[in-house]
Amino acid sequence: MLGDKTALPLLSLVAVDNTKAIGHILFTKAKITQTTKSVTARILTPLATLPDSQCKVGAQLIKEGLKQLKNAGVELVFVLGHPDYYPRSGFNPAGILGYEAPYHIPEEHAGAWMVQELCSGVIGKVQGKVQCSDVLNQPEHWRE
Ligand SMILES: CC(C)(COP(=O)(O)OP(=O)(O)OC[C@H]1O[C@@H](n2cnc3c(N)ncnc32)[C@H](O)[C@@H]1OP(=O)(O)O)[C@@H](O)C(=O)NCCC(=O)NCCS
Repeated sequence: MLGDKTALPLLSLVAVDNTKAIGHILFTKAKITQTTKSVTARILTPLATLPDSQCKVGAQLIKEGLKQLKNAGVELVFVLGHPDYYPRSGFNPAGILGYEAPYHIPEEHAGAWMVQELCSGVIGKVQGKVQCSDVLNQPEHWRE
């Protein structure tokens, strides 16, 4: 992932407890294609925390990442993940908002493809197909 130029710019954050890494989150570049307006976007993946880590490590990594991305001018962040987890951090189903995933998401998993706007008013104005980095652009990353 780190060697893929199409993933840049990326944001990689590690949560540390004393000297021990207890969580990691990565955001990589995404583009919206088949649209008339340009928009700055990222995809969140992967996110992982050590089992039994305290202090809402996952939620804190997401929050800090979104804060830094917003400050950097990023407008939209996408994620394909647990549909009961990411809405806690402000994500909403993306398909019904007009954002097609890089690979087809079966109807029964449509809620797992989510988006969050960091700049109000982008959702609704910009729609299209999301293109991810080359390294993520493999069908196995988009299946259950
Ligand atoms: C999913 C994961 C990142 C959550 O990290 P975490 O640090 O435990 O999460 P947080 O502390 O932010 O949140 C914990 C809460 O989320 C809930 N939660 C955790 N995983 C969940 C899931 N898959 N679906 C729904 N809720 C989930 C917990 O039950 C807990 O709920 P509570 O606050 O009501 O007690 C972590 O369990 C993990 O690394 N899992 C393996 C890798 C993975 O699945 N990554 C995500 C890929 S989409």
